[in-house]
Amino acid sequence: MYLSPRFRAFAAGAALLTASALAYAQQLPNVVILATGGTIAGAGASAANSATYAAAKVPVDKLIAGLPEISKVANVKGEQVFQIASESFTNDNLLTLAKRVSALSKQGDVDGIVVTHGTDTLEETAYFLNLVVRTTKPIVVVGSMRPGTALSADGALNLYDAVNVAASKDAMGKGVLVTMNDEINSGRDVSKSINIKTEAFKSQWGALGMIVEGKNYWFRAPVKRHTAQSEFNIDEITALPQVDIAYGYGSVPASSYEAIGKGSKAIIHAGTGNGSVADRVVPTLQKLRADGVQVIRSARVPGGFVLRNAEQPDDKYDWVVAHDLNPQKARILAMVALTKPLSSADLQRVFWEY
Ligand code: DGL
Repeated sequence: MYLSPRFRAFAAGAALLTASALAYAQQLPNVVILATGGTIAGAGASAANSATYAAAKVPVDKLIAGLPEISKVANVKGEQVFQIASESFTNDNLLTLAKRVSALSKQGDVDGIVVTHGTDTLEETAYFLNLVVRTTKPIVVVGSMRPGTALSADGALNLYDAVNVAASKDAMGKGVLVTMNDEINSGRDVSKSINIKTEAFKSQWGALGMIVEGKNYWFRAPVKRHTAQSEFNIDEITALPQVDIAYGYGSVPASSYEAIGKGSKAIIHAGTGNGSVADRVVPTLQKLRADGVQVIRSARVPGGFVLRNAEQPDDKYDWVVAHDLNPQKARILAMVALTKPLSSADLQRVFWEY
């Protein structure tokens, strides 16, 4: 078949271009985005709706297509694991997601993993992954406070940052990370502290670093056990035990602790002050302990940490303190720890170490 010199030149150019594009892509890290829903996948009726919108609407492929800049950072593939608002997450969702993250982390053609997630329980999922996924590869959990349809939406840059961090060798071995609002926080330490601002995620111990225009600036590293150093492994966990939280406040009835503790492996006390327990509640907690329920004192106060044997004689009552973990994080750790037959002394060690 005759091919004009012009066409031959074009075909050669195209082939060269394809070859160089392929070569370039082969140099880029491979990042998988596991999408679960939330506001980062949300949509509002108008650009003025930064707080009124429906979460969990936009599919992962659309999120990726809406962010062409990430193709210069990594070869990105998306998987829609769930499409839910995160307040509706269940223990089964946690197990399914963590098992998928673990499987991907073992693949030689996966360099990093991003999980897009609603912000309401993002801190719980990030901590759960931090405890049970045995890998040193970067795992980055990301969300947004405004839907992509809103003026000054924060999701696109948060996702761009998450892919950059997940593609970064210097993010390896730092545990599960959370990139929101230009900061890189530890999945263990970070919590949603403000419910109506883009600067919503804070750790009382400070961010691990910042990310600016795709470059990571690190200032510290986690000291608690996580991921590859964890004694817990999602590949060996098939179910999570019942652990619930009782909120302490003036005139709280002992019956609420009785109801919450019944049938649970552990009860988390979200205590006033330093995890204080109302005197009328102590006998109920002692009874629960006698019935084999672990009693873990956390605090409703966002900062500081609960001291052992300060507000309560924990040694005498055989209770555990949650250290600096807030009630929702303490529940995650207690559930993971109690997949093993741990004594309360072992459980307290786990709360010191993770
Ligand atoms: N429904 C909340 C959630 O999915 C929206 C909050 C958000 O994702 O920012 O967590």
